[in-house]
Amino acid sequence: MPPALYTFGFILVVLTRKVESVTFEQSSAQVVNKGTEELRINCSHDDSNLQVMLWYQHKQSDQAMSLIGYTVLMGEPNYESQFTDRFQIKRDNTVKGSLIIKNLNLSDSAVYFCAASTQQKVFAKEFFNCGSSPKPKHHKGLTVLVLQSEDQMSDPGRTLMLECKMGSGFSMGSYTMLWYRQNHHGAPIEFLVKEYDKPVGRLESFLDASKNNFSLQITELHINDSSTYYCAAKAYEAYFGKGTKLTVLEENSKITPPQVKILEPSKHECRNSKDKKRKKTLVCVASGFYPDHVEVYWQMNGKNVTDGVATDEAAERIETPPVSYRITSRLRVSAKDWYTEGKNFSCIVSFYNGTGTTKHFGEISGVEDKEDGGMGREKYLMITNKAKLSYTVFIFKSCLYGAFVGFLVWRLQSSPGKRKK
Ligand SMILES: *[C@@H]1O[C@H](CO)[C@@H](O)[C@H](O)[C@H]1NC(C)=O
Ligand SMILES: *[C@@H]1O[C@H](CO)[C@@H](O)[C@H](O)[C@H]1NC(C)=O
Ligand SMILES: *[C@@H]1O[C@H](CO)[C@@H](O)[C@H](O)[C@H]1NC(C)=O
Ligand SMILES: *[C@@H]1O[C@H](CO)[C@@H](O)[C@H](O)[C@H]1NC(C)=O
Ligand SMILES: *[C@@H]1O[C@H](CO)[C@@H](O)[C@H](O)[C@H]1NC(C)=O
Ligand SMILES: *[C@@H]1O[C@H](CO)[C@@H](O)[C@H](O)[C@H]1NC(C)=O
Ligand SMILES: *[C@@H]1O[C@H](CO)[C@@H](O)[C@H](O)[C@H]1NC(C)=O
Repeated sequence: MPPALYTFGFILVVLTRKVESVTFEQSSAQVVNKGTEELRINCSHDDSNLQVMLWYQHKQSDQAMSLIGYTVLMGEPNYESQFTDRFQIKRDNTVKGSLIIKNLNLSDSAVYFCAASTQQKVFAKEFFNCGSSPKPKHHKGLTVLVLQSEDQMSDPGRTLMLECKMGSGFSMGSYTMLWYRQNHHGAPIEFLVKEYDKPVGRLESFLDASKNNFSLQITELHINDSSTYYCAAKAYEAYFGKGTKLTVLEENSKITPPQVKILEPSKHECRNSKDKKRKKTLVCVASGFYPDHVEVYWQMNGKNVTDGVATDEAAERIETPPVSYRITSRLRVSAKDWYTEGKNFSCIVSFYNGTGTTKHFGEISGVEDKEDGGMGREKYLMITNKAKLSYTVFIFKSCLYGAFVGFLVWRLQSSPGKRKK
């Protein structure tokens, strides 16, 4: 792949409309170059009772949100340890503040959320008493705090119950329980209801703390209800479950598993300009499936590989009836691996069909190296000028092609908004 792919970082800042009936305004989505010196994300809301302003980072690869830090009124900001160096939180007044990220790099690609909270009492006490991070020790690195029910599929018109519970050792009584949803990748995460709220439209939450059961009921399911639903437990910081993806099946659409194939690498893939090593890119294409409950991973000779894998963050919707989805994933391997005869490369797509998961394979085997080694070819081509010229044109063309493909891939990956239905 050409370097173009790796020279950009994406910062997605999503407009957060409503969180617990406070209206928020946040700067809109931004795509910036890696190395950009400073990015400022503004946030304002309309409730001056909320004295605490918190900033979260949500990376697509991570189900949970990470707290970056917070301010209490106009006090000094308090940062989580991994965000101390390049992140800065500013507070203009109670309802206005901003997050500043310096010397951006790829690892900053994420959706940033601004939140506000009233809990300044407990908070302020801990804040002033401990000085540093008030984060209770037993919360560190927890990923199983909030557990949610499996993915779901349903026909329109039905009633559905999504369930959530706390991991062992945690009690719902110590947290405020909430439900959120995200319509599609890159969309804002929208607050729905919290514990003890009255029903909101077709949504109602039920809490039975003694049975460790917090659930969300949705009646008269509509196609628009297709979303990933997040259960969250909030003290002064929110812990999110991994999400339950719900698809309300569209009329005239049939549950269809993917067809998977792997495209051979280009014979003339450009060398990595940095280390001059020959690399080969295999492209896996899964298409024709409905709905988009898939996971893609790669194996080499039957063993999982994760190095060099890049998968589209969301499947692309193909509107031509019957509606279907398509997703691609790329695996970059060394030319040596590819030119090992009999070496197996498989792309495995697991597809959730509403009752269970089926696996679909694309396979390709390494081939014998028929290209002359780089040096041999060059020497040979030196012999005539004509050949030299055609070689140059040929290299130029393949690099151009590579850059074009890279650009397309970059466009696809960087514009989740385009994939809205
Ligand atoms: C953010 O706020 C600062 C100061 O309040 C202002 O100068 C800047 O223009 C704002 N940026 C955006 C993108 O709204
Ligand atoms: C980005 O910066 C962080 C330090 O803040 C560093 O740990 C990380 O390795 C950097 N990532 C890249 C891709 O340069
Ligand atoms: C949780 O509560 C909901 C609503 O009251 C109920 O339908 C569901 O069966 C309960 N689940 C469990 C595991 O008790
Ligand atoms: C479903 O979404 C579409 C487009 O976002 C909107 O026009 C329509 O009113 C929604 N329908 C319901 C029942 O929410
Ligand atoms: C590769 O796959 C083929 C058939 O799928 C099998 O016969 C062969 O033994 C495999 N090779 C290795 C190295 O796993
Ligand atoms: C390979 O990765 C997939 C998806 O992440 C996982 O479900 C599977 O258990 C892994 N297999 C092995 C042998 O680690
Ligand atoms: C869904 O997958 C399960 C296996 O995980 C299989 O038993 C079932 O037949 C599949 N359903 C359909 C409709 O294909």
